[in-house]
Amino acid sequence: MPRTLIAGNWKMNGLRANLAEIEQVGAAVPASDLGPEVLLCLPATLIQAAAASVVGSGLKIGGETCHSKEKGAHTGDISAEMLKDAGASFVIVGHSERRADHAETDSVVAAQASAALRAGLTPIICVGETLAERDAGEVLKIISSQMAGSIPQDAEASTIVIAYEPVWAIGTGRVANTDQIAEVHGLIRNLLTDRFGEAGKGVRILYGGSMNPGNAAEILGVAEVNGGLIGGASLKAADFLAIYRQAAQ
Ligand code: 13P
Repeated sequence: MPRTLIAGNWKMNGLRANLAEIEQVGAAVPASDLGPEVLLCLPATLIQAAAASVVGSGLKIGGETCHSKEKGAHTGDISAEMLKDAGASFVIVGHSERRADHAETDSVVAAQASAALRAGLTPIICVGETLAERDAGEVLKIISSQMAGSIPQDAEASTIVIAYEPVWAIGTGRVANTDQIAEVHGLIRNLLTDRFGEAGKGVRILYGGSMNPGNAAEILGVAEVNGGLIGGASLKAADFLAIYRQAAQ
């Protein structure tokens, strides 16, 4: 069984005044290889201070996207190397908000994931269908093509994480039901073992979309769910820690 990963995604939220929430999470997560791995992916402006404040704890810090290039004339962008330098160890790539707001395609996402690997970060590669795609019966087709296009050639099973985030469940309070989650996670697992063989069984597949302390235990109990990618409920230490504690049981 892959080690459970409980990851938060703060999106475009958080000022220095909110660092106290991060410190609170850090104080509650022991530095140990036992139990779930815990991660907060933060706006770039907070990464350095957050990483410094959780030294000695088990809480890891990540970025929310990165550019594919190491450096250069790309105003406003941030490289995987910069995130690593600031103290990140993971980075989310291909989040549906990036795909929608910044027209990031599968091949862009694959290049970003490859950049993360180059810098020594673990990419969390996101896939997920829209409501229109689900209603059209295209879920498995969409997920299969996103998986094929978004995982870079240089990825290995041990160096990536996949997150399934149905777009219609993000920030809506409308969580996917356990049958829907099991179906897509099962498909993703099969695609991973097709690609990586036996090692594909070790890749963590996170669920994301309106996960909260009230539904986390049920979702984490679904077959092939190896953790969560949590948006709104990761902003408050009490909520995020409540999810972590359910994963730790
Ligand atoms: P919510 O938990 O706010 O629905 O966001 C999920 C998400 O997009 C995490 O990346």
